[in-house]
Amino acid sequence: MAFNFYTVVVSVLFSYFAGLALYQLFFHPLHKFPGPALAAVTSWYEVYYNLIKGGELVKELERLHKLHGPVVRIGPNTLHFNDRRAYHDIFSNGTTLVKDGQFYRAIMPHAAESSFCFSDPQQAKNRRSLLAPSFSRQSVMKLEYTIQKKIDQLVALLEKNYSSSESGVKLSVAYRSLTTDVITEYCFAVSANTLSYPNFAHPIMLETLNLVKRGWIQTYIPFVIHLVARIPPELTLWLFPRFRTLVDVKARFEQQIDHFISNPEDLTSAEHETIYHHLLQSKDPELRPSRTSLVNEAFLLVAAGSDTVEHACTVGTYFALQDHSIRQRLTEELREAWPDKGRPLGSTALEKLPYLTAFVKEALRMSFGVFHPYPRIVGDETPEIGGLKIPPGTIVGMSPYFMHMNPKVFSDPFTFNPDRWLVGDTREMMLDFVPFSKGPRQCLGLNLAWSELYLILGNIFRRLDLSLVGKNVEVDLKLGKVLDYGNPIWEKSEYTAFVNRVHD
Ligand code: HEM
Repeated sequence: MAFNFYTVVVSVLFSYFAGLALYQLFFHPLHKFPGPALAAVTSWYEVYYNLIKGGELVKELERLHKLHGPVVRIGPNTLHFNDRRAYHDIFSNGTTLVKDGQFYRAIMPHAAESSFCFSDPQQAKNRRSLLAPSFSRQSVMKLEYTIQKKIDQLVALLEKNYSSSESGVKLSVAYRSLTTDVITEYCFAVSANTLSYPNFAHPIMLETLNLVKRGWIQTYIPFVIHLVARIPPELTLWLFPRFRTLVDVKARFEQQIDHFISNPEDLTSAEHETIYHHLLQSKDPELRPSRTSLVNEAFLLVAAGSDTVEHACTVGTYFALQDHSIRQRLTEELREAWPDKGRPLGSTALEKLPYLTAFVKEALRMSFGVFHPYPRIVGDETPEIGGLKIPPGTIVGMSPYFMHMNPKVFSDPFTFNPDRWLVGDTREMMLDFVPFSKGPRQCLGLNLAWSELYLILGNIFRRLDLSLVGKNVEVDLKLGKVLDYGNPIWEKSEYTAFVNRVHD
């Protein structure tokens, strides 16, 4: 009897999955698009490359595009493009496509109700309208002094504690500490103050490193993190003591938000304007975010504004320290434009320097911003993508890797070469230069990011003479060898450097 029951259950399940597989392969609206049969049948194909192979989906995508051409079916309902026209159709002109909310909420469970994760275009637009004044060029200029203050602190620490080859510093960690302090001061007028911890070992820094590795687990097996977001903090800590930093950070955001909700008049006494001046004092009360959404937004802004800027600084510094001529041209240009390094030079002056500008652009090109394809859902009104009519409801994407490493636009793309930006006509490159994405959902913090990059890299190369330590700096730039949890290894490389001397 038991045997019969299990036989029936197994047969029913087998028939169901076999029928589903046949449907996906031969009758699904995407069945004519090329790609591996396994990917057409199950979304675990993508999961396998990201989770088991440590984020190697983009490497697999490169192989598949070589095999199948510019469009590949990489999931039952997902297409990936390697075609610059398609990128612009999806992102730059993509007003009829929406973000795949399920994916964004999975990668950012603590920021599910934030500007980054909203898939509804109206909701996203409303939130952008509240946040945009905080990140306008004018606001960034007004608060530039807060960035400079943190940079001065970092430069002093590097000079004091890391001035011999025996005392190298992991620059990625130092930069992450700096950018975390900058974004928390900028958004909340209360800095996380991670730079004050010895050796940049603030718990938030250590946690961020773990997060990168946990990122894929949390994306595909999200229940643990969803649980953490919902249960009382004491229970979270009892069950998962490793989440202490997360719980502490959340408590700090909640405390500040609760204080401003109960005492809105205290906003006027904040040291400078914060995001809450705009989020809580919206003229339209309908737009005012809930308490949960305010906490989510705070999480998102810190996550979006710290690691990204850090990556670009880490990548730029690494390549400048590897190539003597790049470093020399940078320092010479900076010294000429900025004779008295004792007085700060603002980003408006720095952005007029051609070589520094080319260098920052190249650092952004090679650090990609976000490496994974950002998924969008095709709408009923969506025109052709890359010359193809795509069925509504399909998830489409294209990793910026394929834009920035396209040899037809960026010659010899694996070489870090600021000079490529100093030729006469850079219009085509600029069109395909997409570190901040393009279109209605492009990066909201790009003015702040540019200003930070000019100030950080300008100050580091004007005021310090850094050298790489030891042999741990050899990095093979071929994609096959450089991926680490979805990021090229040179972004994540824990190379160390020390202050050789301080410039005159
Ligand atoms: C080098 C630095 C940065 C890079 C390369 C970068 C890159 C990006 C990219 C590629 C996106 C689009 C992602 C997607 O569509 O899935 C994005 C969105 C976003 N970024 Fe940045 N970002 C940087 C710095 C910042 C900073 C400093 C902030 C300020 C806190 C910020 C805030 C945001 C927000 C709020 C969004 C969501 C916009 C929306 O969906 O409407 N970013 N960023």
